Amino acid sequence: MEFRLKDNFLLGAASAATQIEGGDQNNNWYDWYRQGYIKDDSDPSMATDHYNRWQEDLALMKEMGLQCYRMGIEWSRVEPADGFFDERAIAHYRQEIQALHDAGIPVLLTLHHFSNPLWLEERGAFAQRDNITYYLRYVRKMVESLGDLVSEYITVNEPNVYAFNSYFQGIWPPGHKSFLEMGRVMTNLAAAHIEAYGLIRKTRLQMGFQDTKVGFANHLRAFAPKDETNPVHRFWASRIEQLFQGSLTRAMCMGKSAFPIGSHPSIVPGRYCDFHGVNYYTRSTVSGPADGTAENCAANDLGWEIYPQGIVQVCQKLHDLLPRPIYITENGTCDNADRFRARYIAEHLQALSESDLPIERYYHWCFCDNWEWVEGASARFGLVHVDYETQKRTVKRSGEFYQKLIAAHGVSEDLYQEYCDVSYAHNTEAEN
Ligand code: BGC
Repeated sequence: MEFRLKDNFLLGAASAATQIEGGDQNNNWYDWYRQGYIKDDSDPSMATDHYNRWQEDLALMKEMGLQCYRMGIEWSRVEPADGFFDERAIAHYRQEIQALHDAGIPVLLTLHHFSNPLWLEERGAFAQRDNITYYLRYVRKMVESLGDLVSEYITVNEPNVYAFNSYFQGIWPPGHKSFLEMGRVMTNLAAAHIEAYGLIRKTRLQMGFQDTKVGFANHLRAFAPKDETNPVHRFWASRIEQLFQGSLTRAMCMGKSAFPIGSHPSIVPGRYCDFHGVNYYTRSTVSGPADGTAENCAANDLGWEIYPQGIVQVCQKLHDLLPRPIYITENGTCDNADRFRARYIAEHLQALSESDLPIERYYHWCFCDNWEWVEGASARFGLVHVDYETQKRTVKRSGEFYQKLIAAHGVSEDLYQEYCDVSYAHNTEAEN
């Protein structure tokens, strides 16, 4: 394998506040941990202690040559109580963002990434329409406080995954299992995004800035019927795709409501993203009314199929819906021994390099190993290894590969042979 990336294509990494910072116990995920729902019982208020070690992490980012960075704000840290904003926490983020900026690493800022302040969670979070006003108050405050340093925003991370896991599957806080409530949460998140889209642009305009870009990070899977020729499989593949991601994407990007998205006064036809943020990991293979994985497919340590072509397939669908610059806001894999991560990166980037779509950036998930929600510390996605006992950072071989890839702006045959010539493990049976 050998390829070169397009000239202006930027390579960076992504993270989320709750998964790396540590120190905060005032959010719904700490509460979920306290209730015993994290598989390995690891504590999110430890995570990677990035809140204290961000300078060390930034030094590693510089060493690796990152060209952009996606990071998040912990809402419960900056607004620990309803209406009370902690100026010290905001100053901390200002300092970190300024330092990234000085290092030539521009920030794409995520405002909501699965975690809610406890005071909001107790009031029903996004299951309650009225709570959108709290989110907008927080968004305005963040933009007023950081808007001179940050021009690019992600309003919400993966609204479909959040609504599905937290309100339908019940495996994430608050652990509800209601299809109707899931639809309501999706609807409210779409409305929150649409309102935040206008608010962020307006607020920065009032501050004298005209270069604002706002979008959301959309979790998109490639969907395939288990048997192409079976109409039942085809029906369920397209149905689940629509319920999980299709309808919500249309609502968020274009203000169109279709089941399971309900009506809301803010969801009116329009254009609500300046870029498409795409989080892509895997493909689902479907034969009935449930998610599934193909038989005997290449898979990562969590059993997720490794399917590089899918990254372009999902971008194509978005582009057909609404042409906008596309940023891969997350792509990566759980590879605990760092055996095949370099190959995974190379194959996904190769697929992107061959596409004519306006795909402009790639933020690898994740910069360092991170606290992986209910998987806890046991699922490693980082380019940098974190020893959770000592918090020592060590760049992995895949991190070394990524550094060389960034420097060469592509992959040569030699580089591929040196780092990527490994086989993937295969799922032995289908999980349908
Ligand atoms: C989320 C990340 C998560 C990653 C890997 C995405 O769904 O945005 O927070 O760590 O997937 O599971």
